[in-house]
Amino acid sequence: MRILFIGDIVGGPGRQAVKRYLPRIKETVRADVVIANGENVADGRGITRNLAEWMFDHGIDFITMGNHVWDHPKIFDFIDQEKRLVRPANFRCAPGQGYTLCPIGERQLAIVNVLGRAFMGEWDSPLDVLSEVMEEIGDRAAWILVDLHAETTSEKQAVAWHFDGRVSAVIGTHTHVQTADERILPGGTGYITDVGMTGPFNGVIGMKKDPVIQKMMTHLPVRFEVADGDVQFSAVVIDCEERGGRCIAIRRIFITPDHQWPGPGTP
Ligand SMILES: [Fe+2]
Ligand SMILES: [Fe+2]
Repeated sequence: MRILFIGDIVGGPGRQAVKRYLPRIKETVRADVVIANGENVADGRGITRNLAEWMFDHGIDFITMGNHVWDHPKIFDFIDQEKRLVRPANFRCAPGQGYTLCPIGERQLAIVNVLGRAFMGEWDSPLDVLSEVMEEIGDRAAWILVDLHAETTSEKQAVAWHFDGRVSAVIGTHTHVQTADERILPGGTGYITDVGMTGPFNGVIGMKKDPVIQKMMTHLPVRFEVADGDVQFSAVVIDCEERGGRCIAIRRIFITPDHQWPGPGTP
């Protein structure tokens, strides 16, 4: 069973990268399901129904979110009806859902979205939230994929170790920078600290660099905008046992103007 997971799609440049690279990747990878983080698809902040539809029309089956989930008010127009969109499970009382079940053959894959806390917010611990969600899922899912949307490497590693052997993969998102630490933990959980970003190549995690530098220099309020120009595409391919729930392979995809794919390590 193969999953293709695409890191945070940022604004127009992110969509351009999806259009340019996803068809070829899908043809090569032949994943059973394609999941993408869409928390930045609306000009860097949130998502709308039209943009979610755009993602579905362009080969993405499920969308996970993150701390920017509520940034675009239009999400409230459709989040309760859209079963292919998963918001952070930490927001228990908010509209939408913290996990969803995707049928693959005769079995189901649970897709969970959970936020970390360090340098992020005061919601409940990802350990507690994930334990609760897993209890709710029970034996309905053969595989569980967790999009762990968090800032710090240490928190992401700790969560992955805690759930090693109980979930198929813990995939980090949010920092927008792909890490080279993909691995399978001893219990069979696939892990990467961050998948990275699909969006502008020449910015500060997707935003135009000059306003960011300006803000650092002056401390005045500055409007951040999505950067333009060259684009990059970041993803991981996760293989799981057909019969069991464990991860058997995890590989990165990273395409930039300087770094093409297929290359070494192509799935
Ligand atoms: Fe993001
Ligand atoms: Fe984020």
